[in-house]
Amino acid sequence: MKALILSGGRGTRLRPITYTSAKQLVPVGNRPVLFRVIDAIVDAGITEVGVVVGDTASEIMAAVGDGSRWGVDVTYIRQDQPLGLAHAVKVAADFLRDDRFVMFLGDNVIQGGIRDLIQDFSASDWNAQIVLKRVPDPRQFGVAVLENGRIAKLVEKPAEYVSDLALIGIYMFDRNILDSVNNIKPSWRNELEITDAIQDLVDRGLAVFPHVHEGWWIDTGKMEDLLDANRLILDDLAPAVLGTVDGESQVIGKVVIEQGAEVTNSVIRGPAIIGEHTKVIDSYIGPFTSVYHHCEIRRSEVEHSIIMEGSRIDSVDQRIEDSVIGRNVEIARSPLKPKAYKVHLGDNSRVGLIGQ
Ligand code: DAU
Repeated sequence: MKALILSGGRGTRLRPITYTSAKQLVPVGNRPVLFRVIDAIVDAGITEVGVVVGDTASEIMAAVGDGSRWGVDVTYIRQDQPLGLAHAVKVAADFLRDDRFVMFLGDNVIQGGIRDLIQDFSASDWNAQIVLKRVPDPRQFGVAVLENGRIAKLVEKPAEYVSDLALIGIYMFDRNILDSVNNIKPSWRNELEITDAIQDLVDRGLAVFPHVHEGWWIDTGKMEDLLDANRLILDDLAPAVLGTVDGESQVIGKVVIEQGAEVTNSVIRGPAIIGEHTKVIDSYIGPFTSVYHHCEIRRSEVEHSIIMEGSRIDSVDQRIEDSVIGRNVEIARSPLKPKAYKVHLGDNSRVGLIGQ
């Protein structure tokens, strides 16, 4: 078995964070989503991994490297434009050859691994196995209709209700999919849809089986989804204190203090994670907060938030909540007159001020 991870695409719904970084590299629970995808693939025993990259290729290649950190071989596959998930399979044909493979969307996070699924599929003669999950709003996803234990029909982003079983971005295929991606035409959104290619497998009478995932799954496409994924991951956290916590501080519940982090005169109430070489001084970090590496939180309170690398929060007198803060951001009190808000915000930034 091989793995194909899709890490192209534009990430417009995660702007402004994705103006400067690939959406698959946004950390949740202090680990980039793409790294979590690779972890799951490695855990399933797969060692040949193809990564489809687009505009953000250089950043993804710098972060993942040759895969040796995971003990796997990574091959990068260039997709010049994000023309759809089936188009990504097309451009990966030379890498895939005739092998069975799992395709995994690089911005999806699931609870538990995919080891059993991969084992079942590689031991079977099925032509495809598609992972599904019941969702409250199927209109945002591709959905599948089942008949006699098999997938009978698929619809991408259905306007009318056909099923609440969404395709969650984990697909297992044999070589027949390479013919199907060549048989389909672009959709209304001008993409070659993988759902249409799977429908082609079904229409050709091939065996396409569903697997309904029981744990949680998050497509980290929007800001709210990022915070949800962060919350769910932190809930499963195994506590560990690898950095230093002084005698004036309190660490309560499931908390990870990573290597080189320093907590001084502060309260950390888990589940929460404080990244490598981050300093928390005279502050409160509340539940469901991930503070990434090399940050500084001083005389401030933060809860249910993601703070990315190198950011600094100093003397903010209201608690920061439900926030996603990008890299090298500074929120601090200004000593300069006049007394006013002074901001340098990128396009599509959002700031919520306290009402009266
Ligand atoms: O999240 C699950 C959903 O993912 C499925 O239910 C849908 O059937 C499937 O079409 C897909 O829908 P999205 O519209 O949410 O896909 P998105 O454009 O966000 O792309 C998913 C990932 O694939 C993302 O990491 C970017 C990458 N990608 C996307 C496209 C269109 C590529 O690498 N190349 C592409 O051409």
